[in-house]
Amino acid sequence: MKIYFATGNPNKIKEANIILKDLKDISVEQIKCPYPEIQGTLEEVSEFGAKYVYEKMNYENHGFSNPVGKPIIVEDSGFFVESLNGFPGTYSKYVQETLRNEGILKLLEDKEGDDRRAYFKTVIGYCDEKGVKLFKGIVKGMVSYEIRSKGYGFAYDSIFIPDGEDRTFAEMKTEEKSEISHRKKAFEEFKKFLCNMQ
Ligand code: IMP
Repeated sequence: MKIYFATGNPNKIKEANIILKDLKDISVEQIKCPYPEIQGTLEEVSEFGAKYVYEKMNYENHGFSNPVGKPIIVEDSGFFVESLNGFPGTYSKYVQETLRNEGILKLLEDKEGDDRRAYFKTVIGYCDEKGVKLFKGIVKGMVSYEIRSKGYGFAYDSIFIPDGEDRTFAEMKTEEKSEISHRKKAFEEFKKFLCNMQ
């Protein structure tokens, strides 16, 4: 079965395929079907996006080559710093493009210990002819004191050290990140659902 993942971010496709690789008859393929990112929680954005993309792909078929009835997923993620009341959270994309990691480190420059706690959260929205289902994953950790990267990962990965590690996500190969990440946890939940469906 092919699942169409509506995202403009090829890193997410790579991570999803690594995580689902042991499901032999499932593959994830990128589709470029932009959807409006409504203001709301990750759950609300994913639910809205999944319905929107499913309808566009399956009923309106606006130039997409996806035949009717194919299941789709969207995914909305965010980076939440606990001592900043969850900022940037649902504004993660905008903040990464404007303040960038340097700006987050600046906001935390006088913070230590638990005041540097943060987490990533992912919500996958899956839609088929039965409607939408959501699958969630969280990974907790700390914000590093400086940007640390070996060129892996993207966005906040170079300032996030997951619990139990001393490297940032951007210092881990994608395969290593994909063993413990928020995306891994959400896709594991999704995987259980897919296995029950087969
Ligand atoms: P999106 O709307 O799901 O693409 O996520 C919003 C923003 O969160 C992205 O533009 C990235 O800046 C950030 N983000 C999402 N997932 C990750 C990740 O796995 N690592 C680092 N940053 C991420």
